[in-house]
Amino acid sequence: MIDLNGLVDPEGGYNNPRIYTDPDLYELELDRVFGRSWLFLAHDSQLPKKGSFVQTYMGEDPVLVVRQKDGSVKAFLNQCRHRGMRICRADEGVSKTFTCSYHGWAYDLEGNLVNVPTEDRAYHNEIDKKNWGALKVPRITNYKGFYFGTWSEETPEFDEYLGDMAYYFDSVVDRWDNGLEFIGGTSKWVIDCNWKFASEQFASDFYHAPVAHASAAIALTDQPLVLLPPDIPGRQFAGNGHGSGSFWLPELTLPDVHVGQKYTAWVAENQEQVYGGIGRDRAVQVLALHNTVFPNFSWLGQFSTMRVWHPRGLGKMEVWSWTFVPKDAPAEVKATIRRGVQRTFSPAGSFETDDGENWTEIQKVLRGFKARESRFNTQMGLGFEERDTNGQPGQSNDVFAERQPAASIAIGVS
Ligand code: FES
Ligand SMILES: [Fe+2]
Repeated sequence: MIDLNGLVDPEGGYNNPRIYTDPDLYELELDRVFGRSWLFLAHDSQLPKKGSFVQTYMGEDPVLVVRQKDGSVKAFLNQCRHRGMRICRADEGVSKTFTCSYHGWAYDLEGNLVNVPTEDRAYHNEIDKKNWGALKVPRITNYKGFYFGTWSEETPEFDEYLGDMAYYFDSVVDRWDNGLEFIGGTSKWVIDCNWKFASEQFASDFYHAPVAHASAAIALTDQPLVLLPPDIPGRQFAGNGHGSGSFWLPELTLPDVHVGQKYTAWVAENQEQVYGGIGRDRAVQVLALHNTVFPNFSWLGQFSTMRVWHPRGLGKMEVWSWTFVPKDAPAEVKATIRRGVQRTFSPAGSFETDDGENWTEIQKVLRGFKARESRFNTQMGLGFEERDTNGQPGQSNDVFAERQPAASIAIGVS
């Protein structure tokens, strides 16, 4: 069993790269992180009517998330209790029941076993179906249209779990009067790196942007990254394992090439509505560029993309990403946002591939024996943390500061 002591030291500002390569630690994460945390399951707009369902994962466990007849949302392990086949193989859809494709056991919208083929002959009518339903996710919460679930009865309520991160999450979801919706389905791709590289970068790494994305920015805009002066203010929040960071732009100006000209024009014409829910200063200052709700739900406020980094073994993850848009925006504005996301943060997006290239290269380097013995430096901004500055709750730092919340909390160091 791996010795967890000394793997991560938030006080000294270093970590040991074995957090990305140790198989025992990965198993512990599946149990202690993904078995206990609140994990993003689905957004309201993915489940438009009774019987609507989507498949997703809680860690590596496949789950079905289903809109019930009473409008609530429930989730259960997508594993047949007969011999363990996936109960439902469709990615999404609308159904009244779910029938296993192996021997035909059927489950209702809550995951209760409701039909067993040839029950009389095969089981002599003695099987007690109520004991053989799918394993239910015991706790689900609806936070402003976002459903999160946890297997754990001990994990604090979602509001407490989210803590000060609510301010940053709300800056995205409360921004528009009528909320937001996901459009264009789910983009999925697998890349060869540990899930924590992505989760941590979206929590706390603004530092990489001007360098890692330099060529993409120049290719798309003919200018260095977003034309920002070097002394532009910005803050980096960290709390409860979550993180959010952003430059403070003087105006809510978005380069056309990122999100599309029509979106930029629509924002300009509808500023009152755009700023309505959270006020102009917060809308501009908390542009909420990069964010992670621990452990693996992230979004880029400016770039209109949300995603989950599903772990797929030690050196692999599966990215599931969505485009989010203001519900009230006209159809052509939504379409232009979707194209902007495809251009920038999608499997072949010019910015997305910059990030993936760095994460997968680090994972390759860590195949080396010596490479796994070195320490990594996480000292940026150490000791310069402040609390409740500029009306923003919680602990924050300059935008160029780093914490490794996912790594730290994964091994029990907060
Ligand atoms: S494994 Fe599902 S019915 Fe047999
Ligand atoms: Fe990036």
